Amino acid sequence: MQQRTIGPFAVSAIGLGAMPVSMNNDNVFPERADAIATIHAALDAGITYIDTADIYAPSWDQMGHNERIVRDALASWHGDASGILVGTKGGITRTAEKDFGRDGSLAYLRSAVERSMENLGVEVIDFYQYHRPDRWMVYGEVMQNLKTLQDEGLVRAIGISNASVEEIAIARQVLGEGNLASVQNQFSPRYPSSYGELTSCEEHGIAFLPWSPLGGTGGGARDVGDRFGVFREIGDAHDVSPQQVVLAWELSLSPVVIPIPGARRAASIIDSARAADLELSTDELARCSAAVGLEL
Ligand SMILES: NC(=O)c1ccc[n+]([C@@H]2O[C@H](COP(=O)([O-])OP(=O)(O)OC[C@H]3O[C@@H](n4cnc5c(N)ncnc54)[C@H](OP(=O)(O)O)[C@@H]3O)[C@@H](O)[C@H]2O)c1
Repeated sequence: MQQRTIGPFAVSAIGLGAMPVSMNNDNVFPERADAIATIHAALDAGITYIDTADIYAPSWDQMGHNERIVRDALASWHGDASGILVGTKGGITRTAEKDFGRDGSLAYLRSAVERSMENLGVEVIDFYQYHRPDRWMVYGEVMQNLKTLQDEGLVRAIGISNASVEEIAIARQVLGEGNLASVQNQFSPRYPSSYGELTSCEEHGIAFLPWSPLGGTGGGARDVGDRFGVFREIGDAHDVSPQQVVLAWELSLSPVVIPIPGARRAASIIDSARAADLELSTDELARCSAAVGLEL
C-alpha cells in the first residue's frame, strides 16, 4: 500500500480506527475473537497504523479495553508485527461520577501513559496523542507536559487531537519545530469544517488524521453514499463502494492526510484499505469536493 508519514514513522496511507470494536454509537459489540480477526484482516490488507485510545471501552470501568485488544491482536498475528505503529491517546478521564472528563496535568498524563504502556504491553509508547483540550488549562502548559514525558523517554512521537489552528501553532512552538507529528480531527463529507487545520498541517509537514472519516458509527458511515450521492455515483462507475471513494477523495486532498476508518467487521476494513489504490480523475475529485461544500 502507498506509504505516508507520522513523525519519524512510515505508515500505510489508510490506517485502522480500532475504536468501534470497544465503543460505538450502535452499542453493538463484536465477540473478542471477531474483533481480533478484524484487526488481523487490516494487517493482512497492508495496514500498518492502528489508532486506539485508553478511553475506548464499553463502560467507564473498562478503560484500556481497546488497547488490550490491539495488544492481543498484534501478539497473535501470523505476520511480523514489529513494523506496525500503534497510536494511542490520553487526556480524557472516565469515572463513575463523570464519564468523559478532561485532565491535561502532568501527574494525570504520566499515570495515563503508564497505564497505556501496561495495556499495550510496551515499555515506550511510540506515538501518543493528546485526546481533547482540557479547557481548564492553558494549552501551552499541557504541551509542555507532553514534552516532559517525551524528554523522560516515556513517549516517542507526539500528536494532538481535536485541535484548532491556533492550538496547532502553540503545539509547534512548545514542542519545537518538526516535533509535532500529527493532528487528529473530525473530517468527513458531513464534517468538512476542519479543512483549515488540514491545510495548516500540510504547510508544516504534519500528518493529518481524519477521525470518523466516513461519518461515524451509528449510520453515518454506512449511509454516506445515500446522503452524498456523488460518492455512490463515482463508486458505481469504478465498481467500488461509496466508502472507498470517500477515502480516496480524502487522500487526494493532501499528502499529509491519513484517514483512519473504523471497523467492527473484517469486510469493512478490507474494502476501506483498497481506497489507497483507487485513482479518481481530477473532475471526479472536484465533484466530491463540491458535493461537500469545499471550494478548493
Ligand atoms: N480523536 C477523537 O476524538 C476521535 C473521535 C472518534 C473517532 N476517532 C478515531 O477515528 C476512528 C474512525 O472513526 P469512527 O469509527 O467513529 O467512524 P468511521 O470510520 O467514519 O465509521 C466507522 C464505521 O464505518 C463502517 N465502515 C468502515 N469502512 C467501511 C466500508 N468500506 N464500507 C462500509 N462500511 C464501512 C464500519 O462498519 P462496521 O462496524 O460494520 O465494520 C464502522 O461502523 C475511530 O476508530 C477512532 O480511532 C477519534
